[in-house]
Amino acid sequence: MSLGLDTHVSLGGPTLAQQRRLVTSIPGPRSQQLLARKAAAVAAGVGHTVPIQAVAAGGGVVVDADGNSLIDLGSGIAVTTVGNAHPTVAAAIAAQAAQFTHTCFMISPYEGYVAVAEALNRLTPGDFDKRSALFNSGAEAVENAVKIARKFTGRQAVVAFDHAYHGRTNLTMGLTAKSMPYKSGFGPFAAEIYRAPMSYPYRDGLSGAEAASRAISLMEKQIGADNLAAVIIEPIQGEGGFIVPAEGFLPAVVDWCRANGVVFIADEVQSGFGRTGVMFASETFGIVPDLITTAKGIAGGMPLAGVTGRADIMDAAHTGGLGGTYGGNPVACAAALAAIEAFETEGLLARATEIGDLLRSRLTALQASDPRIGDVRGQGAMMAMEFADPATKAPDAALTAAVAKAAIAEGVIVLTCGTYGNVIRFLPPLTIPDDLLHEGLDIVAAALAAH
Ligand SMILES: Cc1ncc(COP(=O)(O)O)c(C=O)c1O
Repeated sequence: MSLGLDTHVSLGGPTLAQQRRLVTSIPGPRSQQLLARKAAAVAAGVGHTVPIQAVAAGGGVVVDADGNSLIDLGSGIAVTTVGNAHPTVAAAIAAQAAQFTHTCFMISPYEGYVAVAEALNRLTPGDFDKRSALFNSGAEAVENAVKIARKFTGRQAVVAFDHAYHGRTNLTMGLTAKSMPYKSGFGPFAAEIYRAPMSYPYRDGLSGAEAASRAISLMEKQIGADNLAAVIIEPIQGEGGFIVPAEGFLPAVVDWCRANGVVFIADEVQSGFGRTGVMFASETFGIVPDLITTAKGIAGGMPLAGVTGRADIMDAAHTGGLGGTYGGNPVACAAALAAIEAFETEGLLARATEIGDLLRSRLTALQASDPRIGDVRGQGAMMAMEFADPATKAPDAALTAAVAKAAIAEGVIVLTCGTYGNVIRFLPPLTIPDDLLHEGLDIVAAALAAH
């Protein structure tokens, strides 16, 4: 079967021609055929953003079945940080798959799982004794972090924040703030979840200390520290709009948690694993979480997630209380070890910072010429712009959707996010060349100018 690729293009990521190339309109005929089959076979609730049939990806491009090559500014939602089909990751996957694909770590342990746990214990902030447990998805990691915190503290309540996104399982839907599309009609949700106000400098104008005292006051009055097992927060919020809290907010919340025996969980599923130019965004804010959840960028595209943290907390759960059939699957662990090696040997953290500098300077220049861009924020290769009415700051979701749609039609994959649907976020793979990044931003800028 033809993959619709040029003859000089081979599978295997970085050997793909690094160019934007449209040979049909999007979606082309082959992609349309797949999307028709999808509509007839796949549940309507599973949507898609880019109407193509993907057949290959690597470097900074995704290639479709019609031979179009699209610039990838989304990394499959912050997953392929080390690049898609990274050669070392692909080789590690193949080698492990040829060896064995599954034993179930809870039945017959294997080294890859232990090595990933050791790496997570080493790479996460905090120089105390740590333990890790591995799972399949970010939501599963969050569920388990909450389980562990409850067992450790003997308390039940959990605080999550406005604009939070923690997943689509029942507990994580409850923790997630936004109703449509994540929660609407899917209740009832788990009990003992409380929502605190987030620090959102562009919209609340509060200092970090003010925003923290607002959140702490709510926790003290409405829950009481004695009832509170855990506070969970994304250090830089992802789906909620790439909201970067004001300086001092996170340290104040962490201090309050420490003083009150509350487990502080940093959900770094999106912001972690090198995305922001440091291994974990918590480092930027000078905080050391008790527990950290990881997924997405951890394994170069394979499904793997982890909870890592203080040994006394992690070990509170009884034997057999944590796990799952596939958690820490050997193929996913092999991919993670290769991805971690890539981080440590290919200068990817520095590259994330470089990409961040490029994105920030391009986006702030665009903002200077278009007041509908109310805010530019983020860190490293996790940057965003928020669209709002220049006078009232009313969110402009329609403009956001139109710009993203136009960019995709021109062969640039961009994602939107935000509680108000008015944020375009940039999450390129760290293997994207600068010229493609510039070209992608040129196209987004042209799409904005046209609307
Ligand atoms: C911060 C955060 N937590 C949890 C999740 C859920 O991860 P998954 O989709 O792997 O279940 C996501 C996914 O976007 C996320 O961004």
